[in-house]
Amino acid sequence: MSENKKDSSLSIEPVIALSRDDMAAVNEVIRERLSSDVTLVNQLGHYIIDSGGKRLRPMLAVLAARAYGYEGDKHQLLAAIIEFIHTATLLHDDVVDESDMRRGRETANAMFGSAASVLVGDFLYSRAFEMMVDVKSMRVMEILAHTTNVIAEGEVMQLLNVHDAETTEARYRQVIHCKTAKLFEAATRLGAVLCERPREEEDAIGLYGMHLGSAFQLIDDVLDYSSSSEDMGKNVGDDLAEGKPTLPLIYAMERGDAAQSGLIRKAIEQGGYDMIDEVQAIIQQTGALEYTRAVAQQEADKAIEQLAHLPESEYKQALELLALFSVRRNT
Ligand code: IPE
Ligand code: IPE
Ligand code: MG
Ligand code: MG
Repeated sequence: MSENKKDSSLSIEPVIALSRDDMAAVNEVIRERLSSDVTLVNQLGHYIIDSGGKRLRPMLAVLAARAYGYEGDKHQLLAAIIEFIHTATLLHDDVVDESDMRRGRETANAMFGSAASVLVGDFLYSRAFEMMVDVKSMRVMEILAHTTNVIAEGEVMQLLNVHDAETTEARYRQVIHCKTAKLFEAATRLGAVLCERPREEEDAIGLYGMHLGSAFQLIDDVLDYSSSSEDMGKNVGDDLAEGKPTLPLIYAMERGDAAQSGLIRKAIEQGGYDMIDEVQAIIQQTGALEYTRAVAQQEADKAIEQLAHLPESEYKQALELLALFSVRRNT
C-alpha cells in the first residue's frame, strides 16, 4: 500500500499563506458558533472541529470570493457554514461507514457513540442554517438548502450501491457528484453570489468547484487502496471492508479476466478485510489506480478551464493550484 508516495504530492503552502488571515477569521466564526448550552454538543463538536482537517472547502469559499474582488466579511461566515455542513456529513458518514479513525484520531462515534454523533451532526446542520439566515440572501439560502438535500440523496444512493457488484461507473460518478462535489460547487458558487456576478460566472465557478470536488473524491477512493493511515488520518481499506464499489474496484472488475473479476465481485458482495491482498494485486495488475487518477486529472483540467473568465490575480492562481492539489495529494 505504498504506491502513492510523498514526492508526487503538491505543496499548497502559498495558498495557505494567501488565505491565512481569512482562514483565521473563519476559525474564529467556527469557534463562536459551535457553542451550545448542552455540554455534550460542545464536547463532541470541539472534538471533531479541533482535530483539524484540511479546511479545503472553506478555503475555496474565501478564495473564490476574493477572486471576484470581494472586500466584505460575509465570505468568512459562508466559509464557516460550509465547514459546518462538511463536518456534519463526516459525523454521519463515519456512523454509516462504521469507521473508527478520522483526522488521525478515533472517530467521534468510536469515542462518544453513534447516537451522539448523529445528533451532534444534526446540531451542526441546523446551526449552519441559523447562520445562513444571517447572510440575508435568498439566493444563498436556495443554494445551500439544495446542496444539503443533494448530499443526503448522494449518501442514500451510495447506501444502495453497497455490496452491489453491478454498480456501474456512471452510478458511481453520480454518487460522488452528489455526496462530495456538490458541496465544493456551493463553496465556490457562493463567492460569485456575494459579488453579484452574472449567472454565467456563477455557473462557471460552480462548475470549477464541482469538477474539483469530483477529482477530490476520486483521489480519496484511490488513497483508500494506496495510502497509509498515518498520511490519511483514517483507515485504509475501509471501502473494501464495507463492500463499497468505488472506481478502482469497478475498473478492475471490468478489465480483469474472469477469475479476477469473480474475485472482486465476491469481495464487494461479502465485504470485510479477508480478500484485501488478492484485491490489491488485481487492482495493481489491471492499472485501476492509474485509471482512476487519470479520470481525476481530467476533472481537475475541466475545473481549471472554468476559471478562464476570472481576471488574473493571485487568488485565481490559488484556485488553479488547489485543483491540481486535489489530484496530487497524499492526505
Ligand atoms: C473527507 O473530506 C470526505 C471526502 C469527501 C473524501 P476531507 O478529506 O476534506 O476531510 P478533512 O476535512 O480534511 O478531514
Ligand atoms: C465521503 O466519502 C463522504 C462524504 C461526502 C460525507 P467517504 O466515505 O469516502 O469519506 P471518508 O473516506 O470516510 O472520509
Ligand atoms: Mg466514510
Ligand atoms: Mg474515503
